[in-house]
Amino acid sequence: MKNNRVIVAGGAGYIGSHVCVDLINNGYDLLVIDDFSNSSPESLNRVREITQLTDQSRLGLLQADLASPADYQKIVDTIKLYKPAGAIHLAGLKAVGESVAEPGRYYRININATHTLIDGLDQADGRMIVFSSSATVYGDHNKSPVDETGRTGPTNPYGQTKFFIEQILTDTAISNPHWKICNLRYFNPVGADVSGLIGEDPNGIPNNLFPYIAQVAIGRREKLSVYGDDYPTPDGTGIRDYIHVCDLANGHVKALNFLEQDGNNGSHIFNLGTGVGVSVLDAVKAFEKASGKKVPYEIIQRREGDIAEIYADASQANKILGWQATRTMDDMCRDHWHWQSQNPNGYGDIKDDNKL
Ligand code: UD1
Repeated sequence: MKNNRVIVAGGAGYIGSHVCVDLINNGYDLLVIDDFSNSSPESLNRVREITQLTDQSRLGLLQADLASPADYQKIVDTIKLYKPAGAIHLAGLKAVGESVAEPGRYYRININATHTLIDGLDQADGRMIVFSSSATVYGDHNKSPVDETGRTGPTNPYGQTKFFIEQILTDTAISNPHWKICNLRYFNPVGADVSGLIGEDPNGIPNNLFPYIAQVAIGRREKLSVYGDDYPTPDGTGIRDYIHVCDLANGHVKALNFLEQDGNNGSHIFNLGTGVGVSVLDAVKAFEKASGKKVPYEIIQRREGDIAEIYADASQANKILGWQATRTMDDMCRDHWHWQSQNPNGYGDIKDDNKL
């Protein structure tokens, strides 16, 4: 019988909670490892609600810090006891600017968390990892659409940690042929589960475009700053490949199914994107249409380290994993807005209802 137990490291976060929903709906039992340093336990309650989980043992939780030496043994022992088939690895820090200011913290936490997970899975004989990498590993070296053979070279410590972890996992797979690895290079995840119960809840001022637009639309922020309109793109603003977080989540299930098949040992890389490039001003317009709210903006100078344009060639994921993004920009805006309008302060409503 198939082992359907999976560790979800960082499972309470924005992407993690959507991955949990899709895994549960596909019959997997989960053990989430999370320290809630940038997430809320409430997201897991919402996952239970969305999936109408009656058997609570199907979604276990170990509250622990994968990067902390103090928690190391407890985590490895728990994984050994749980005997998972493998793990989805989404645990780590993810703010670009912060990583430039505190590179040591980023390298230490993101990389140590990975080693702990590798050790636990190795000792539990569950040598399978689906890793949340990022299109940021491509830096600014490629013409779009970029495929997995594109030149790598991240431009900040956060991106470097993603790149190094891909290398660590690949070397681990070389050291022992029982290992099976998928490095998933995400493009720009946005949107939320259609229920509006889970979604992105950034700490403080959002760095990324969609959460910022959503907070302007709901009235938490006055206006959006558009970082430059003098890029060599049709409207002068930056072009990205926005992907609905539920499509992205499903990519993890497909990657896991692929690794579960006999013979797919070793390390693999897949882009997860839609292949469609959308400008900042296009995104603002689409969000205004979906929300019926005005999103005031002002054009300011470029943000350092930004690139003009990047979007995916995701044909490998289609061909090998049988995966494809199906949701449109309108779906992304509608679902992002649904989450934001139902939860104006994110999960913060639970502990602090005077944020807005
Ligand atoms: C950023 C990170 C990337 C990370 C990804 C996660 C940088 C340089 N890169 O990518 O490493 O993997 O998020 O999703 O931070 N924009 C504005 N105003 C804003 C915010 C963004 O105009 O307030 C523009 C940006 O200039 C860019 C586009 O919107 O053209 C998307 O920005 P963002 O959501 O931050 O994503 P990335 O820069 O692609």
